[in-house]
Amino acid sequence: MKVDKKDFLDLSSWSVFELKQILTMATVLKSERQPRQPRLAGKSLAMIFEKASTRTRVSFEVGMYQLGGQAIFLSRHDSQLGRGEPIEDTARVLSRYVDGIMIRTFSQDDTVVLSRYATVPVINGLTDLLHPSQVLSDVFTIQERFGDIRKLKVAYVGDGNNMANSWINAAMRFGFDLQLACPDGYHPDAKILARARKEADSEINVVDDPLQAVQGAQVVNTDVWASMGQEEEAQLRRRVFAPYQVNDQLLAVAAPDVMVLHCLPAHRGEEITAPVFSRFQEFIFSQAENRMHVQKALLATLLGGAK
Ligand code: CP
Ligand code: NVA
Repeated sequence: MKVDKKDFLDLSSWSVFELKQILTMATVLKSERQPRQPRLAGKSLAMIFEKASTRTRVSFEVGMYQLGGQAIFLSRHDSQLGRGEPIEDTARVLSRYVDGIMIRTFSQDDTVVLSRYATVPVINGLTDLLHPSQVLSDVFTIQERFGDIRKLKVAYVGDGNNMANSWINAAMRFGFDLQLACPDGYHPDAKILARARKEADSEINVVDDPLQAVQGAQVVNTDVWASMGQEEEAQLRRRVFAPYQVNDQLLAVAAPDVMVLHCLPAHRGEEITAPVFSRFQEFIFSQAENRMHVQKALLATLLGGAK
C-alpha cells in the first residue's frame, strides 16, 4: 500500500527547513490566537492515549478546535485497543473517519505500525523513546527568548529518556551544541546518539558530571527521574539521580542569562529544587503554552496542507 502522506513520528525524519517552517507558522498562530481562517474546518483528529497526559491532550484538543476542527480522545481502556484489537485494524478504521491520528504510547514501533497502516498523517505524542512534539516546541520557546538556537549552548541533565533522545535529534537538525549529563546505565539511546554525532555540525556529548554539562550553558533542561511506566523503579532512581538535581549550586556554573526549562510534570525536590522552579516558572509555563501554538502549526501543515 503506497500512501502519499507525511507523519511526525520523529524530529530526525524532517529537514531543518521543514521544522523551521513549522516554527515560523507557530509564531503567526501564536500572535493570532484565534486564527483568521479556520484552516482545519471540518477536519478531525483522533488522539490515542495509552499513557496519562495533561498538556499533550489539552493542547492538541484545543489546538484542533481553534483551527476549526475537532479532536476525539481515545483512551486505551475505553477503546477496543485495550481489549486487544490490533493496531493495524485500528489504523485502517480510524483512517476512514478522521484526517489525522495522534498517539501517545509505550513502544515507538507501535507508532511506526500505526503509520504504515494509516492512510492519514500520524503524530507522535510521546513514546518511551521520543517526545518530538515537546522538543520542537521547546526549541520555539528558546528562540523566543534568545533568537537563533544555533548560537546557544544547551544542556540536558538527568535521565537519558524520551526527552534526552529528542533533544539529541533536535541538536542534529537545528545545529546547536548539546551537552547531556546522565548517570552510567541511564544514557540516551545509543543509535540515536551515534547517528547525531556523525551527522551533526555541532557538538553533542554525553558526560557523567552535571557541572561539566552545565558549564556556560544558556539553556538547562531537565525531566522527571522516573518516566511513565517506570513507577516501580522510582525509589532506586531517586538514589541514582540525586547528584543530577538542577539546583542553585549547579546553575552557578551556567551562563549568567541561563534559562531553565522543564517539560512538566515536575517533581520539586527531585530533578529540580522548588526555588529554582519558582525562579524560572514564567519560562516553564510559557514552554507548556507553546505546545499548543507549535502543534497547531504542525496540524495545519499535516492535516490542512498549509504552506
Ligand atoms: N509535557 C507533557 O507531555 O505533558 P503531559 O504528560 O501532561 O502531556
Ligand atoms: N519522560 C517523561 C516525560 C513526560 C512528559 C515521561 O515519559 O513520563
